[in-house]
Amino acid sequence: GGCNPPPLMQIDILTLFPEIALAPLSESIISRARAAGIVEIHAHNLRDWATDKHRRTDDYLCGGGQGMLLKPEPLFAAIEELKTEATTVILMTPQGKVFKQAVARELSEKGGHLLIVCGHYEGVDHRVIEELVDLELSIGDYVLTNGAIAAAVVTDAIVRLLPGALGDERSPEDESFSDPTLLEAPAYTKPAEFRGLVVPEVLLSGHHAKIEAWKKEQALERTRANRPDLLGEP
Ligand code: ADE
Repeated sequence: GGCNPPPLMQIDILTLFPEIALAPLSESIISRARAAGIVEIHAHNLRDWATDKHRRTDDYLCGGGQGMLLKPEPLFAAIEELKTEATTVILMTPQGKVFKQAVARELSEKGGHLLIVCGHYEGVDHRVIEELVDLELSIGDYVLTNGAIAAAVVTDAIVRLLPGALGDERSPEDESFSDPTLLEAPAYTKPAEFRGLVVPEVLLSGHHAKIEAWKKEQALERTRANRPDLLGEP
């Protein structure tokens, strides 16, 4: 032992559904990054920190209102046990700052230890946010049944940016959102004709300047169609 360098990043996910969080992180690229020792990922069941006889993690809202909230005691106990001085504690919630590629890049470059806490039901008791959470993240303007799905999304986006995670043949450099202003041009592979549908001729021409000009024009067109907001258009 003692020959392997430490992982660039350690990610702990605290959730009522560890298997939901881990399933998407146990295949393909992220699984390989874990096996290669680039990242260490663990999921923890919040219920393990519930101490009352029914091991309850949720309770009704003070002041009334629909639904349930995660109680402070198990969350405080779990977070205090799992965090260190250097940990960034992230809470997944639709009330958070919207997670973008730039946030993924920042967290990936910073490395170190992330503790990702997953909300459930209507969320978590606000004392947890005030005392223990460094960053609240939402993956978009819609409501999921639980934050474990969102934690897997955020973890995937961060880990694939770690050096070595994509292997030598793939680079995250020139994909959509590296250049945040434009989507990518349409892309094609072989065969050049399929069911009478043909690959645009310019892509088979070998003329690199023309290909680049075509890609720019197509990227602009796709962005205008799918994401006019990126162009400052309504
Ligand atoms: N939990 C429920 N919905 C969510 C969202 N959109 N982002 C992050 N966590 C969530």
